[in-house]
Amino acid sequence: MRIEGYAVVGDDDRIADATGGMPSVLKNEAEWAFFQAGLDAADVTVLGRASQDATPNPKRRRRLVMTRSVRDVQVDGATVFWNPAGAALRHALTGFPVPVRHIAIAGGRDVFDHFLAGPCRFTTFHLSRVHGVNLPGGRGVFGAVESRGLSAAQVLTAAGYVPPSPMALDDGVDVVSWAPGSL
Ligand SMILES: NC(=O)c1ccc[n+]([C@@H]2O[C@H](COP(=O)([O-])OP(=O)(O)OC[C@H]3O[C@@H](n4cnc5c(N)ncnc54)[C@H](OP(=O)(O)O)[C@@H]3O)[C@@H](O)[C@H]2O)c1
Repeated sequence: MRIEGYAVVGDDDRIADATGGMPSVLKNEAEWAFFQAGLDAADVTVLGRASQDATPNPKRRRRLVMTRSVRDVQVDGATVFWNPAGAALRHALTGFPVPVRHIAIAGGRDVFDHFLAGPCRFTTFHLSRVHGVNLPGGRGVFGAVESRGLSAAQVLTAAGYVPPSPMALDDGVDVVSWAPGSL
């Protein structure tokens, strides 16, 4: 199973501002195209319930929505609601009418935390950065960015991921595709 995470942050590793919204300063056309291509390549997009509520789905992609509002798994057309406390990922994915071999994790914070470690960890985590942007008090890409003041790089390194060189996406915008190191 390919499990690819996609996040875009500013210099302070925040995915959203202090209101919980995604500010326009984090939006970049080339980064958006990179992200959308990643979602298109996957069989299913995985996202948190707040992101599901905040983002329309014009391409009608298959979505796995993480929420504690269901006991385990609830299927609603092309959208499957999943509580990982009640069902394993492989069980939740049987809610889709196609074999699922490749999932794209679109966040937010606690969803990224969920896939950081364990048997269903990221096979790649694409961390895009818009340089020169700071979002004080905003939502960290991982919980430990907020709770422990760690950088995303420190969190990923501690979880056993290693970074290749950044790939430029646009002026002042790049992506680092972290992957598990060989232990
Ligand atoms: N810059 C980026 O890359 C990026 C990425 C994603 C999102 N965003 C932005 O960030 C904001 C939303 O992100 P967010 O972190 O606040 O929320 P989120 O992850 O989209 O949604 C949070 C909700 O997901 C559910 N959830 C998360 N982890 C879970 C778990 N382990 N088990 C069960 N349910 C779980 C819970 O839903 P229930 O409350 O229903 O139980 C939780 O309240 C939006 O503004 C969005 O646009 C930015």
